[in-house]
Amino acid sequence: MVYNRSMEVITRSPEETIAAAENYARTLKSGDVVLLNGDMGAGKTVFAKGVAKALGITDEILSPTYAYMNDYDGRLYHYDCYRLSYGEQAVNLGLTDYFYAGGVCLIEWAENISSVLPENCKTVTIEDIGEGKRRITF
Ligand SMILES: Nc1ncnc2c1ncn2[C@@H]1O[C@H](COP(=O)(O)OP(=O)(O)OP(=O)(O)O)[C@@H](O)[C@H]1O
Ligand SMILES: [Mg+2]
Repeated sequence: MVYNRSMEVITRSPEETIAAAENYARTLKSGDVVLLNGDMGAGKTVFAKGVAKALGITDEILSPTYAYMNDYDGRLYHYDCYRLSYGEQAVNLGLTDYFYAGGVCLIEWAENISSVLPENCKTVTIEDIGEGKRRITF
């Protein structure tokens, strides 16, 4: 028998999404790789702000769209793979090395580099369900 252990939460504001992410971050261990799934504007970067807060990171979390990945003191690596088209690009840019560097990795648009992701990634899915609400599934 297989039990579905996924959990979901509905948030009604960015602040609530940050709070939900802070709670979720308590379950994370160093070296965890978390795939943040969801459409453009779903709230993946907002969620990353909450994880960073829980990790005690005081730097502002900015979307890494133009850098592909932002490194917060080796504790958090925040990726945005929107502009990557295939996994080898991430390897060639050295981005995959950080999956094994001991910090928490949060990856937006991970589907673009699915061929080079590690095994045993965790997944968080965020859906816009209207009226400023988001369904977040862990
Ligand atoms: N309940 C909510 N939770 C999170 N964000 C919300 C919520 N309601 C409204 N928003 C707004 O939705 C937007 C989410 O933007 P964010 O940059 O986090 O999206 P994203 O998923 O990272 O998009 P992209 O794929 O373009 O990087 C923000 O403007 C935020 O203020
Ligand atoms: Mg984003």
